[in-house]
Amino acid sequence: MKIAIMGFGTVGTGVEEILYKKRKSLLKNNFDITIERILIKNKNKKRNPHDKNLIFTDDFDEIINSDLETVIDVTSNLEETHERIVRLMKAKKNIVTANKAVVSKYFEELSELARENEVYFAYEASVAGAIPIIHPLMEEVFFNDISEISGILNGTSNYILSKMEREGLDYEEVLKEAQELGYAEADPSADVGGLDAMRKIRILSSLIYDAKIAEDEIFTFGISNIKKSDFDFAKDMAYSIRLLGKSSLKDGKINISVMPRFLKDDFFAKTFDGINAIKVHGENFKSYELKGPGAGKLETADAIMRDLLRILAKREIATFYMAENSYPVENNLEKKYYLRASKISDELKNLTSSEKIIGDDHHIITKKIELKKLTHAINGLKDIFIAEIEEEI
Ligand SMILES: NC(=O)c1ccc[n+]([C@@H]2O[C@H](COP(=O)([O-])OP(=O)(O)OC[C@H]3O[C@@H](n4cnc5c(N)ncnc54)[C@H](OP(=O)(O)O)[C@@H]3O)[C@@H](O)[C@H]2O)c1
Repeated sequence: MKIAIMGFGTVGTGVEEILYKKRKSLLKNNFDITIERILIKNKNKKRNPHDKNLIFTDDFDEIINSDLETVIDVTSNLEETHERIVRLMKAKKNIVTANKAVVSKYFEELSELARENEVYFAYEASVAGAIPIIHPLMEEVFFNDISEISGILNGTSNYILSKMEREGLDYEEVLKEAQELGYAEADPSADVGGLDAMRKIRILSSLIYDAKIAEDEIFTFGISNIKKSDFDFAKDMAYSIRLLGKSSLKDGKINISVMPRFLKDDFFAKTFDGINAIKVHGENFKSYELKGPGAGKLETADAIMRDLLRILAKREIATFYMAENSYPVENNLEKKYYLRASKISDELKNLTSSEKIIGDDHHIITKKIELKKLTHAINGLKDIFIAEIEEEI
């Protein structure tokens, strides 16, 4: 199979490394994969591929006009890459992508195009790195009503929160160190702001409910406002804090959000560092849990390789996601929440069950309320931190 790779950064170099190092073993099993071209943005950047004969180009026409069958997208670009994927599918090329920004924003369109053009659209690597989650769900949905999915879907936030927990440090200090060590990007906003996890819960939820869930319908609150005092408060109540994506479908209504959560030590998703964790609830089983590295060079390339081999062996599942259902996002389940703010409103006071004032900050535990009530009550408040309390106090 002739392929091209779009992007040669962390994940792209990982894919090339595996293809190069495992070539013999792949060939032994008739998996003959040749990289025809690698598309990059900056032609002047120094590259160090394992295969020194690889051809790099910044000219997309060389890819679209070639006879190759499958294109791996591991670019970090959203709109231009989306346009290119559309053109590639129309040109009858299979797409394997790790690009969750593109998959999340254009999931319906790309699924439809893949069906129309009878090409494969494989996106296992777009959610939770090395953890196989998309394909198990793709099989489950045919015979099992999946009612809930939740988990830790962003390694950078998890790294920061677990380090704050273990070392009692403040957010800024840990973020700076994470950036120096390469665990957090120079611009960490997509990770710590919850956008990255939001994209992943959107992809997973749309797939299991066969329903479009627009990105802006998902309540998203990240960890960038967290203070050491929030951790101290949680610890006094025997909790820790992690950023969780959660979605459920009950009585035809969807609850979906990405926000910090107070968790007990035995909670399934209380992982450390970059470890992602996902729990799936279905009709045929109570639940199952998956844990593993949610990002990384070889970890993500591993998921890409699995998609590639499935396509090559003609055992990839053809795209069936059609967003045929339509469920309102209600966020109507009642939960308790923690909130820290320097000023609170009357509306918030009415939702409060207990309050502690430490320094300039009010630390509040709410009554059991719907998330939509909380979001209304915090509208306009600045520099606040909120977290859902996972269990009863
Ligand atoms: N890193 C992870 O652990 C991980 C895990 C899961 C999913 N992902 C997803 O995988 C994708 C790649 O991530 P990464 O960490 O490998 O990113 P990266 O290291 O920043 O590399 C991105 C690559 O994309 C290329 N690129 C960007 N815009 C382009 C354009 N317009 N045309 C052609 N090439 C373009 C860049 O080219 P230049 O080299 O010329 O700059 C670079 O080689 C992203 O969508 C990311 O969200 C990453």
